[in-house]
Parts: sequence; structure tokens; C-alpha cells
Amino acid sequence: MSPDLPQPLRAALERELEGVSRRGLAERAARTSAAYRAGQGSAGVIRGLDDALAYALARLPATYAACASVFDEAARRAPGFAPRSVLDAGSGPAAASWAALEAWPGVESVTWLDASGPFLDLAGRLAAEAPAPIHGAARLRADLTGGGTSWPKADLVAASYALAEIPEARQAEVVGALWAAASGLLVLVEPGTPAGFARLLRAREALVAQGADILAPCPHARACPLAAPDWCHFAVRLPRSRDHRLAKGADAPFEDEKFAYLAAARPGVGVGAAASRVLRHPRSGKPGLELRLCGPEGLETRFVGKRDKAAHARARRLGWGDAWDA
Ligand SMILES: C[S@@+](CC[C@H](N)C(=O)[O-])C[C@H]1O[C@@H](n2cnc3c(N)ncnc32)[C@H](O)[C@@H]1O
Repeated sequence: MSPDLPQPLRAALERELEGVSRRGLAERAARTSAAYRAGQGSAGVIRGLDDALAYALARLPATYAACASVFDEAARRAPGFAPRSVLDAGSGPAAASWAALEAWPGVESVTWLDASGPFLDLAGRLAAEAPAPIHGAARLRADLTGGGTSWPKADLVAASYALAEIPEARQAEVVGALWAAASGLLVLVEPGTPAGFARLLRAREALVAQGADILAPCPHARACPLAAPDWCHFAVRLPRSRDHRLAKGADAPFEDEKFAYLAAARPGVGVGAAASRVLRHPRSGKPGLELRLCGPEGLETRFVGKRDKAAHARARRLGWGDAWDA
């Protein structure tokens, strides 16, 4: 699945940007990014549609690309899974909904759950020419920490870059409520930082205790073998539009978005986890390739020599984040 925004979403974003001062938007995008980095949540940062638009310009392409990459892998681990309903929790401009529809075209209904009015409004404006399930998405303005609330059930529940905004003490309960709403798969995507990884580790532990099958990225449901300062994360490269380069004050025509994720399924939904997962870019040398793997026995550095032609040919096609089923 391509990491590029689907054409109707790109066109809608461009339409929203028409006539808007690029300098003003770049300043706003820089302010909102700095506030997010300083640990402020959307509630304090996104005060109106202009702020939501600045976020979308600066972050939507990257959060979409991360979701696309994660859903691709989830679909590989659950080839028979064909969700018809999606709950996008902490939906913002709805990157996860658009990516879910690309990954699973059989989706028929989408719900956006978000506490932010400006984000829900922007998601609706960006969906003006979207395929029917996104164009007609139900909007639920609600607080994920709403204590004891049960959310509408959906085959796929996704929360992308949202858990980061939930106070740590409330995250387990929020993840529990999202898991209760997921009839098939719950996918959590977080920034690829040590803090994002730590949030997912806690969520993983709680989900395993509640009987979830971990489909990806972990090859097993036992304790994670990674120890600080190491953390499990992945990256996706995406093109940068001219507006995005201006907003970010960046020269490179692409960016690498780092993310961490977890795909947890109801028993029977997936075919199980991969045998092992490639944890960094494979290192290639004259005699062969070196793979850093997380496998059933823990962490492993495996050498695949050129002499083993079949294995080497397979290993050469692998990248960071791929499953290694050999
Ligand atoms: C960083 S944005 C991510 C948006 C989108 N999912 C993405 O991937 O681009 C975080 C989103 O979570 C929402 N959010 C944060 N805390 C929330 C809460 N307690 N209840 C509902 N939504 C919340 C924010 O309003 C915002 O839309």
C-alpha cells in the first residue's frame, strides 16, 4: 500500500489551503508542533479550524503513512480479516480511517471519536469527496477517558497518535475500553519514541492478560526482550509536498516518519505472529547479510551468508520492520 495520501484527500487538503497565507500557516504549524513536542495535548493546542489545518499540513501525511504501513502488516498477519466497520479513536483529521479504507476496501461504515470540535470539523471538510464510508462517517464528540463509557463496536478499532495524549494513569482503562469495542482487531500506532514504545508495552501487557492475540510486530506474547536504551520502532519514507516543505522549513523532498505500533486480535482473526521481526536495517557485507531479529527465543543477530543462495536471496529483500518467516 502506498504511503502517499489518497488523491481525494490530497486534493481536499490542497483546497483547504487555497488562499491561506503560507507564511501564517508555517508559523502556526511551527507553534503547534512545538506545543505538541513540549507535551501539550491537542485540547490546549488546537483551538480552531486554522490550528487543525496547520496540524493536517504538518502531520497528516506522516500519520497516514504510518497507519498505511501498520495496516499493511496487520492485513498480512490476518489475511482473512475483512472489516466492515471502523472506529477511529482520537481520529483528528482521520488519517487512520483513510488508511483503513485503502487497506480494506470492504469497509462500509466509519465512526470518528474525538474530543476536539475543530478536528471533527476538519475531518468532515477533508471528506467532502471521499468514498462513501468516509464521506458519511459518524462523528462522536466524546472524551476517551470518559470513564465506564462503552464505545460503538467495530470490526477494526484504531487509535493513531492518540494514546500519547491520554494521561498515563488513564491509559490502561482507555485501552481496555477500545479492546472491548473491537470485534476483530485493535491497532494502536504511536510516535516511534521511547515514550511511545513504553505506552505500547503497557498496553500489550494488558491486552495479553485479556486474551488478545498479538499479531504484530511481536513474534510472541511473552515479555518483551528489549531493554532500555533500545526501543522497538519502525520507519516509513514518504514524499514531502512543496507546502509541507515550506511548513516544516525543510529541504529534503521526503521525510522518514518513525512510529511504534501494536496489532491485537480476537482469537481466530489472524494467522498468528511472524516467526521473527527485523528490528533494524539489515547490514550487508561481502560475505553476506546481518539481520537483527526479535524471535521466539528473544533477540538475535543472524548472519545469512551468500553461500546459502536461497536464504540470502530472501534476506536481501527484507527491510527494517519486515517479518522473517524463514
Ligand atoms: C496527535 S492527534 C492524532 C490525530 C490522528 N489520529 C492522527 O493520527 O493524525 C491526537 C488526537 O486525539 C484526540 N484526543 C486526545 N485526547 C483525547 C480524549 N481524551 N478523548 C478524545 N479524543 C482525544 C485529539 O483531539 C486529537 O484529535
